[in-house]
Amino acid sequence: MPISVRDPLLEVSGLSAGYGKIGVLHGIELTVGAGEAVALLGPNGAGKTTLLRAISGLLPRSGRIRFAGKDMSATGPRDAVSAGLVHVVEGHRVFTQLSVFDNLLLAGYGLPRSARVHQVEEALAFFPEIAEKRRDLAATLSGGQQQMLAVAQGLVQRPRLLMLDEPSAGLSPVLVDRVLAAAAQLRRTGTAILLVEQLIEKALATVDRVYALARGTIVLEAHAGEADLPNRLEQAYFGQDAQAPLQT
Ligand SMILES: Nc1ncnc2c1ncn2[C@@H]1O[C@H](COP(=O)(O)OP(=O)(O)OP(=O)(O)O)[C@@H](O)[C@H]1O
Ligand SMILES: [Mg+2]
Repeated sequence: MPISVRDPLLEVSGLSAGYGKIGVLHGIELTVGAGEAVALLGPNGAGKTTLLRAISGLLPRSGRIRFAGKDMSATGPRDAVSAGLVHVVEGHRVFTQLSVFDNLLLAGYGLPRSARVHQVEEALAFFPEIAEKRRDLAATLSGGQQQMLAVAQGLVQRPRLLMLDEPSAGLSPVLVDRVLAAAAQLRRTGTAILLVEQLIEKALATVDRVYALARGTIVLEAHAGEADLPNRLEQAYFGQDAQAPLQT
């Protein structure tokens, strides 16, 4: 049963997408409420990245996408960003030969110059560690700092919904905690988050609600605090009926 969301910001229904003739996503139903943090979990190859790309308009898709009360089913990535739907792609993509500050200015494309500098400062305020290095080349940052920069790039546009694709990938446990803490802090400021994550326990500690995706369909939807969720998620991943009582 879908969980009803009081104040929906993103509503995806009957969404299908793939690559050429290869169908990857089949009839996805997913909702994120205003200011809500939601995790999208699932095994490798389930279609998590494909789903974020389809939502943000980086991939052709069919089905319905509503965002902030507007139909965005046919909207491309630039218009999605202007509407407040921002996608931080997999694998901390930063321009290593530009300074931290210039990477952020670039992420503020389309904004008037004065607002741009102001919003870059706002984004940097979430990450004091990279704010200190604003004049350094991004190449000199550690992997974790580059990931923080990638998240900060997403923040420059003041998103209403920030979609993060595995921000913890390749980071040490301490850095994973720092990046997820920034996501939690962002949520407290009222920004909704859709977080793709491999680390189930850490994701559950960060969000309000979860969806599990397996083989291109949503196989489980739950509140993050529900009992026995890690077990139920793993069962859902491997194709057993997640709603069935656990065998003892
Ligand atoms: N550019 C592409 N062309 C063709 N098939 C692709 C492409 N990208 C992904 N796929 C396929 O689509 C399916 C879903 O991939 P996707 O990257 O969305 O999964 P994922 O859940 O993000 O996995 P991971 O946890 O490894 O990041 C996989 O079968 C993958 O092989
Ligand atoms: Mg992926």
